[in-house]
Formats: sequence, structure tokens, C-alpha cells
Amino acid sequence: MAKALLASMVAAVVAFGPQFHGCRDAMTALTHLTYYPHKDMRTTVAPVPQQVVLLAPDSASVPVTGRPDHLDEQRLIADRIGATAALRNPVPASAASVQGGEREFRRLCVPCHGKSMAGDGAVARSFIPPPDLLSEAIRGRSDGYIYSYVRYGGAVMPRYGHLIGAASIWDVVNYIRHMQRTSPR
Ligand code: HEC
Repeated sequence: MAKALLASMVAAVVAFGPQFHGCRDAMTALTHLTYYPHKDMRTTVAPVPQQVVLLAPDSASVPVTGRPDHLDEQRLIADRIGATAALRNPVPASAASVQGGEREFRRLCVPCHGKSMAGDGAVARSFIPPPDLLSEAIRGRSDGYIYSYVRYGGAVMPRYGHLIGAASIWDVVNYIRHMQRTSPR
């Protein structure tokens, strides 16, 4: 009895579905009917592309690492000094911060900028040589300017904002300042 009912439902879907909605809808309807016995990746109910709703953070969620400083990228390209002028380094240059910055610098920056920050990393030879981070020019840059370089990248330098959090970027800035003080060129 159940089998007959199912068979007539399937027949109805196959017979009338295509006339109204095309073959794909009939296939989807059949897939729904057969979904539970065949849970594999070929026969499944697919989420419609562009219609997946990404949930906003829960109203009770609290940011624990501070607000990541967001900068207007168009303005950065046009006028980086102006765009970063108001950005202040919120992380005190404690020994722990400098140490953390060194760790991150070794992880992300040494391949191009080199351990001594002279721009002689292994990658630099086959890439555009980066400037010496201990040079007068970079000493004259503001903390926010250097922060923006790491987070959003430069004219040539890639961005690293997806690999390092805001607080750790300020640690890197503190480490660069520490190196500029203790190993002048
Ligand atoms: C893939 C190689 C590469 C990596 C990795 C890299 N940089 Fe650079 N960086 C460059 C190049 C090339 C330049 C010069 C060209 C430019 O300005 O884009 C540069 C320029 C800079 C400048 C100079 C900005 C100025 O005033 O001209 C700073 C500061 C800097 N990088 C910091 C960093 C820090 C900190 C890291 C690690 C988080 C890092 N870079 C990782 C290639 C790299």
C-alpha cells in the first residue's frame, strides 16, 4: 500500500514536475524523497549558492582582543601618511610585547626583510628587495604607518592582516622600534 502510494507520488512528480518547473525541480523533488536512505554527497539537498545566510555574532558575544583598527583602503593608497595619522599604538613596548613581536617578525617578515631587517631575506633575492627597516626613512614613519603596511600591504608588499591579529601587529611595530633603538646603522 505504502509502496503504491510512493510510486504514484514519484510518477506524479516525474509527469507534472517538468512541465511547470523543468527537470531540475523534478530531480530535486526526487532527491528529497530519497534523501534519508541515501545520505551521500551525490544525492543530497544542496544549499542554494548565494542564499546561505551567515549568522551575525551573537548579541552576547564580547570581543576580547580589542577592536581591530580598520582603515579605509582607498585612502591608504592615495595618502597613507594622512590615512594613518590618527592611529595610535595602544600596546606599551613592554619586554613581553617586544618578544612577541620578534616571534611574529621571524614567522612572517624574515623571509623578505631578513633577520637583521636589512632587506636581505631569502625571498628578497627573487622578489623586489625591500627597504632596510633600520634606515632613517623607516625610523621617520609613524607606528600607525607601519601597522597599515602589515595589515593591508604596500605597493608591492603583500598584506598579512589575515595571518596576524591587531595586537600582534603592534607587537611587531614595538619590535621594529626596539631594533631601531638598539642596533642603529
Ligand atoms: C614577500 C616579501 C615581504 C614580506 C613577507 C614582508 N614584506 Fe615588508 N616589504 C616588502 C617590499 C618588497 C617592500 C617595499 C615595497 C613596498 O613598499 O611595497 C616592503 C616594505 C615594508 C616597509 C616599508 C614601508 C615604507 O615606509 O616604505 C615596512 C615597514 C615593512 N615592509 C614591514 C614588514 C613587516 C613588519 C613584515 C612582516 C609582518 C613584512 N614587511 C613582510 C616585502 C615584504
